[in-house]
Amino acid sequence: MHPTLASDLANIDSLLERTRRHAVEALASLDDRPAALAPPLATVQPLPERGAGLEGALAQFAERWAPGFSGSAGPRYLGFVTGGATPASVAGDWLTSVYDQNPTAGIDSAAPDLERETIARLRALFGLSEAQQGVFVTGATMSNLVGLALGREWLGERKDVRVFEQGVGALGRVHVLSAVPHSSIYKALSVLGIGRQAVQKVPTLPGREAVDIGALERALEALGGEPAIVVASTGTVNTVDFDDLQAIYALKAQYSFWLHVDAAFGAFAALDPKHAHLVAGLDLADSICIDLHKWMNVPYDAAVQFTRRRDLQVRVFQNSAAYLGVPADNPDFVHLTPENSRRLRALATWFSLAAYGRAGHAEIVTRNIELAQALGKRIGDQDGFRLLAPTRLNVVCFTLAHDPNEASVNAYVRAVRDLGDVFITSTVYEGTWGLRVAFTNWRTEEADISRIFDSLKKALNAVAR
Ligand SMILES: Cc1ncc(COP(=O)(O)O)c(C=O)c1O
Repeated sequence: MHPTLASDLANIDSLLERTRRHAVEALASLDDRPAALAPPLATVQPLPERGAGLEGALAQFAERWAPGFSGSAGPRYLGFVTGGATPASVAGDWLTSVYDQNPTAGIDSAAPDLERETIARLRALFGLSEAQQGVFVTGATMSNLVGLALGREWLGERKDVRVFEQGVGALGRVHVLSAVPHSSIYKALSVLGIGRQAVQKVPTLPGREAVDIGALERALEALGGEPAIVVASTGTVNTVDFDDLQAIYALKAQYSFWLHVDAAFGAFAALDPKHAHLVAGLDLADSICIDLHKWMNVPYDAAVQFTRRRDLQVRVFQNSAAYLGVPADNPDFVHLTPENSRRLRALATWFSLAAYGRAGHAEIVTRNIELAQALGKRIGDQDGFRLLAPTRLNVVCFTLAHDPNEASVNAYVRAVRDLGDVFITSTVYEGTWGLRVAFTNWRTEEADISRIFDSLKKALNAVAR
């Protein structure tokens, strides 16, 4: 064994203790470090011939890289839709690396069954029936991709085409109907060979991002009996609007379509009694995308993908090799997603659910919603800001009252970032450049709201000058 490796192995206890101390300090300083920062100029240093050992590597990381990292796990990083990592999920994530299990094939370890138990607990958390079978993937984009791959195979079934063998070319034109699909839907369609242009935008209800059911019905009718894929959103990324899943499902009585629901973070509305109705009917979907590194607050990267048609999933993703066996009733994970070998990423979620249960996670969701509503009210009442939509759930969508455009809004985002207290991101909503403040972090508390609001106001002065 190389001497540095041997020495690290011999000293693993004290070395991991140092790493633990670094981690604890990083977590303890989350409140004080900048929520985000302009990326410092990076210099790429060459590959070392002789390594510095774990102690040296940790010192180099602490000096060269850690100071440039954002406080994205902290309470006031409110850009994109970004979760943090609960204490138990951090511990679970560490142990994922320690045990280094590859849960793809179930002949050598209990790891795949831990993932199955985690899936069953998530199903219960979101009120899904046992007909929905799930698997872990890296994020909502991958979950959407797998769901749409199943929709593609289902279209083949309708047309007597085995897409998994003949390829997507044999399928002919694919119709994907959706009102406000997330950008990852387009990416997934591109990867799947269906193409971004397959999306046919369906009108929304007036002043909303939720699909107009009458318009969707007319669009389905116009297909003249051609089967389609309908992508529903619960909720949308700008204003967190929810398509009416029960009404969409009811259209199945007359029209033939695969119903995929992108519930990346909106699925968590199910945990809050006042908002659970927004995702009523989620269980009716043929495939569902739910992200976990957002509102579940587990570390990157984790999402879950559910479907009622696991048979199609095995057709698409089967990885045939004599040593892996034939997929049976309870197929190994290797036959269910694009990856073969992968980490046991369910462990962080398993830890968080075991540690905090339904009630712990529901409290995070309810608190985040209340904080978003409180900030939305203050922004709505403040000169210099204008709400672009009511704050329906956990995202405040607003803009600068005076001439919002790409340059001014992005200058404002940088001004907020450079103050260091808060991070928010820009968007375009109904043709207007705007801003999103997304609450999904388990650490954000009421006391943060004044600090967030003060910082947003201060940045307004900075761009006005
Ligand atoms: C509704 C929705 N779908 C999909 C995604 C993509 O998620 P990820 O970046 O985890 O792949 C996001 C991310 O914000 C989202 O909000």
